[in-house]
Amino acid sequence: MPEPTPATGALQKSSVLVTGATGNLGREVTARLRAQDARVRALARRRTGPVPGVESVTGDLTDPAAARAALAGIDTVFLVWPLLDAAHAHGLVEVLTETAPRVLYVSSAAIDDTADRQSDPIVQVHADMEALLHDAGLRTVVLRSDTLAANTRGWASQIRAGDVVAGPDIARTAVVDERDVADAAVAAVLGRQEREPDHGPYVLTGPDLLGRADQVDLLGAALRRPLRFEAVPAELARARMLADGRPEELVEALIAASLHRPESRRVTDHVERLTGRPSGTFARWAVDRAAEFS
Ligand SMILES: NC(=O)c1ccc[n+]([C@@H]2O[C@H](COP(=O)([O-])OP(=O)(O)OC[C@H]3O[C@@H](n4cnc5c(N)ncnc54)[C@H](OP(=O)(O)O)[C@@H]3O)[C@@H](O)[C@H]2O)c1
Repeated sequence: MPEPTPATGALQKSSVLVTGATGNLGREVTARLRAQDARVRALARRRTGPVPGVESVTGDLTDPAAARAALAGIDTVFLVWPLLDAAHAHGLVEVLTETAPRVLYVSSAAIDDTADRQSDPIVQVHADMEALLHDAGLRTVVLRSDTLAANTRGWASQIRAGDVVAGPDIARTAVVDERDVADAAVAAVLGRQEREPDHGPYVLTGPDLLGRADQVDLLGAALRRPLRFEAVPAELARARMLADGRPEELVEALIAASLHRPESRRVTDHVERLTGRPSGTFARWAVDRAAEFS
C-alpha cells in the first residue's frame, strides 16, 4: 500500500480493496476512489494496467490466502462475486470475519425477497451471497444493481460487422449506467451522503425499462445508423455460445436468465439517494460510448 498521506479537507482517508478491478464496474470504482484521494488496492486475477496511486494485486477470490494478503490494512471492501456458486465464498467470508472490514457487496436488483428460490442461478448466487455475508455478522452495505449498460459491450463486434445484433432475449429491466453504480458505491464507501448508509439493500436502477431491442435501437441512434435486435431461440443460442467456447455452466445460467427472469417494473431513486443526482439514461450511455462500437 502507498504510505498514507495526511487527509485533506473533512474526509478521512479510506483504504479500499476493489475486487473485480479490471471489470466494467471495478474500473469505474477504482478511478473514482483515486479521484477522491482514497487509498486503493485493486484485486483481480489479472493485473490492472498501471494507475497512479493504485496498488494492483493479483489473486483469486476463492483463494483464502490471497484474500488475506489483499485485505491487510484495508478498512472497506468493494466486493463483487462473479462466480456461479456462492459455496466457493465460504473461505473468503471467514477471512472477512477475521479482518472485519466494511463490505459493500454488489448484488442483483432481480432478487425477489418474497421467493424461496430465485428466478435463475445468477440471481440465486447473489441471494446466497447476501445471506452468507449477513449470517457472518459482517458490516455490509448491499447495492443491488440492475442490468449494467456496459453488458452491451458484448455486442460491439456484431455492430461493427453489420446492422443486426442476434442473441437470446431477456425480460425488460431498468438498465443502469455502471458510472452511476460506481458513483453510488463510492458515495457509500466515503460516506459522502448526509449520514452513514444503512445496510440497504439499495436498488440501483436506470430511469427507463428497456428490452434488448430498445437498447439496440438506442445504440443505433447514437451511431446514426439503423440497428436491429434479432431474438435467437434458447436452443440455438445455447448451441452458439457453447460453440464459441463459453463454459457450459455459464451458458446454462445465461439461458436460464433469458427464459425465467421476470420483467422488472421497478425504477428507484436510490442512485440519487446516494449520490445526490438522478441516474442517467441508456441513450446518454450510448452516445458517450459510441466510439467503442464504431
Ligand atoms: N453486469 C450486470 O448486469 C450486473 C448486474 C448486477 C450485478 N452484477 C455484479 O457486478 C459484478 C461486476 O460486474 P462487471 O460487469 O464489472 O463484471 P466484469 O466486467 O465481468 O468483471 C468481473 C471482474 O471480476 C474479476 N474476476 C472474475 N473472476 C474472479 C475470481 N475468481 N477471482 C478474482 N477476480 C475475479 C475479473 O477479472 P479477472 O478475470 O482478471 O480475474 C473482473 O475484474 C459482477 O460480477 C456481478 O456479480 C453485474
